[in-house]
Amino acid sequence: MRKKITVVGAGNVGANCAMWIAGKELADVVLVDVVEGVPQGKGLDLLQAGPVNGYDVMISGANDYATTADSDIVIITAGFPRKPGMSRDDLLLANYEVVKTATEQAVKYSPESIIIVVTNPLDAMAQTAFMVSKFPKQRVIGMAGVLDTARFRAFIAQELQVSVENVTAVVLGGHGDTMVPLVRLSSVAGIPLTDLIEESRLKAIVERTQNGGAEIVKYLKTGSAYYAPSAAAVEMAESILKDKKKVLPCCAYLEGEYGINGLYVGVPCKLGAAGIEKIYELKLTAEETAALHKSSNAVKELVEVIKSKM
Ligand SMILES: NC(=O)c1ccc[n+]([C@@H]2O[C@H](COP(=O)([O-])OP(=O)(O)OC[C@H]3O[C@@H](n4cnc5c(N)ncnc54)[C@H](O)[C@@H]3O)[C@@H](O)[C@H]2O)c1
Repeated sequence: MRKKITVVGAGNVGANCAMWIAGKELADVVLVDVVEGVPQGKGLDLLQAGPVNGYDVMISGANDYATTADSDIVIITAGFPRKPGMSRDDLLLANYEVVKTATEQAVKYSPESIIIVVTNPLDAMAQTAFMVSKFPKQRVIGMAGVLDTARFRAFIAQELQVSVENVTAVVLGGHGDTMVPLVRLSSVAGIPLTDLIEESRLKAIVERTQNGGAEIVKYLKTGSAYYAPSAAAVEMAESILKDKKKVLPCCAYLEGEYGINGLYVGVPCKLGAAGIEKIYELKLTAEETAALHKSSNAVKELVEVIKSKM
């Protein structure tokens, strides 16, 4: 039996998730969107790319959730993206309603699924899906860290003219300006970054990573990034479906880890068939811990607003 992934939201991120999933022949895909015709049209278009690119997966689109039944994974990308000058947090209330509805519907038809949330503000939306679905915490995961580290890795590789595959990076915290790229634990084929790039250059690369999303929003003007975000969500889905047990930075529900309780925050996780199979607690310096707590406090403020709406 083929695996099945529902992608809620057939916009830029959603449609590209479907494309990467098909390209990897990971699973059949159902695209769901509120706009009539869009998921159906994009689904059909992607299906017709199959003979050219040589993939055998079924891709369909719908405006309701009946055909999503028994999905293994549900990727939620539905909602509004940022426009220039907006922060991710500005999307809170509008996207809260969208993610709440999407989660209710998706879990009704796929009660055993694993949910990957992409919609912003990411950490608060992951927490929304967790609260609404009532799923165990292992089965509701936010996508942010894979994208943030990918940006960091791409900039480092560009700087040093080395393969992106050699660059490993660690980013903790919320998906916002307060994210915490851990330079100390990042390396190129095991060589510490601090031995390769001088401090002021590294600082500039960290700042560019923190503002990586805004840089693209500024160029696009009418929306936000979608190729790398969709690729990142699909890397997580692949690790789960193939039980690869990749260690990836994910937005996970913390219950005491890093001194944070009852909040979704970005931390290194092992992703396998059960979802989040382990959260790794890194030994942080006092400065890094303070930065992580600052970041989690920013998430907490948004979550308080959501809780007051529930
Ligand atoms: N976590 C991350 O790192 C990350 C990265 C990029 C984008 N995002 C977020 O992902 C979301 C989607 O971005 P995008 O560029 O694809 O936007 P988009 O506008 O291209 O697509 C969003 C789609 O959601 C649909 N939608 C709205 N309400 C819906 C509902 N109730 N049910 C189903 N579909 C609904 C819209 O019709 C639209 O097609 C945004 O919130 C964006 O901020 C997050």
